[in-house]
Amino acid sequence: MWNFFNPVKLVFGIDALDRIGELVGGRPYGLVTYGDPFFSELTERISQLAGTPGIVINDVSPNPGFGSLAVSCDRLASTGRSPEIIVAVGGGSAIDTGKVLAASGGDFSRVRECLETGEGGQRLKPLPLIAIPTTAGTGSEVTRFATVWDHLGKKKYSLALDSSYPEYALVDPVLSQQAPRDLTISTGVDALSHALESIWNVNANPISSHLCVFAAKEVLLALPLLSKNLDNLDLRLRMARAATMAGLGMSNTQTALAHILSYPFTLNYGVPHGIACSFCLPMVMQRAIGFNPECDSTLGKIFGNDLEAGVEQLSDFLLDLGISTSPEDYGMEEKEWSALVQTAIGSGLGKNFVGRDATPAARANSSLKHRGITSRTCEIWDFNHSVHSLVRRCFIWVSLTFISCHVFSWAHFGPRFRGFVLGVFTP
Ligand SMILES: [Fe+2]
Repeated sequence: MWNFFNPVKLVFGIDALDRIGELVGGRPYGLVTYGDPFFSELTERISQLAGTPGIVINDVSPNPGFGSLAVSCDRLASTGRSPEIIVAVGGGSAIDTGKVLAASGGDFSRVRECLETGEGGQRLKPLPLIAIPTTAGTGSEVTRFATVWDHLGKKKYSLALDSSYPEYALVDPVLSQQAPRDLTISTGVDALSHALESIWNVNANPISSHLCVFAAKEVLLALPLLSKNLDNLDLRLRMARAATMAGLGMSNTQTALAHILSYPFTLNYGVPHGIACSFCLPMVMQRAIGFNPECDSTLGKIFGNDLEAGVEQLSDFLLDLGISTSPEDYGMEEKEWSALVQTAIGSGLGKNFVGRDATPAARANSSLKHRGITSRTCEIWDFNHSVHSLVRRCFIWVSLTFISCHVFSWAHFGPRFRGFVLGVFTP
């Protein structure tokens, strides 16, 4: 039995932003965005289309944390005309900030209590939200999840209220045309990560997998082309569509191992989220294959029947975009990485991962090495594999010796010496 649910009304296409006035529908609204000139111009355009916002919060920070969110919620509370709806414009940080502001009622402590204790979520009554992504990757425009960081406490939280789905996702690929190459790539591989994480997921269902197969194939095809031709609107549209479809899949499955592995890299080493949750995808895929027939079948629709070769294909895809697949290149030493993998697989989102219960022996039987992955974990598994291989080779050597002696003794010494030779050379 499986379920699929997503209540977000999606408006997608070139110049979809022109419909913002219709979606706001005359309701007093608060606008949440960044302070860069591009977003100032966008604020101006939205004001012309939907009326002047009651409040503009335009200092969204990357990876929004407790401190900045508390300040933004205070500002929302202090506005004279309380908004009836929040419009969030930007990448994942802006949309997640919009979700928190919508849920806070101007009091961040209520959201914080919910995040830290898991209690009080039912008392939060979020305002409706219109999410307008300006990058192709986050997927947050069609999910109920908002990532919140405790930078001082070095923790990552996820607000995941049933009432936190945006009312509308307004996806206009034109808005992503301003994104520079690095941002285009890092957000694009985030979409790939969402698609694959939704597939190698215990919560996967036929609809989420179908969406995510399409999304992953599109990212694998379109992102390398887009990285060399950033002005191509058709490629921008394909990436926006892939990111939204991956988000729809993820909205039902959550993410899995690659995402939980990513958080320390973002918290401790400042690695952008998209890179942090995608550099390890080949290693995670290697751990996913061979243990769940349905997952293997779905991955086969993306990578073909040879999934080991698919791991290489995925690794090459990332390396060609300039994304190293080695954790050491992002600041984490091998020992720490090994411990992180072991911890992550049994906790939080790691429990969603289809390969979480695979035994070390089972892993040893699959080839664990691929280019760029140098983790201690892989080495341990490779050691097990080597021991098995050595035992097998010893057995073959003894057998060949026995047979050779048998033939040699008959041919050259006759039956008289056969017993003597066999007695010397066989155990
Ligand atoms: Fe992500």
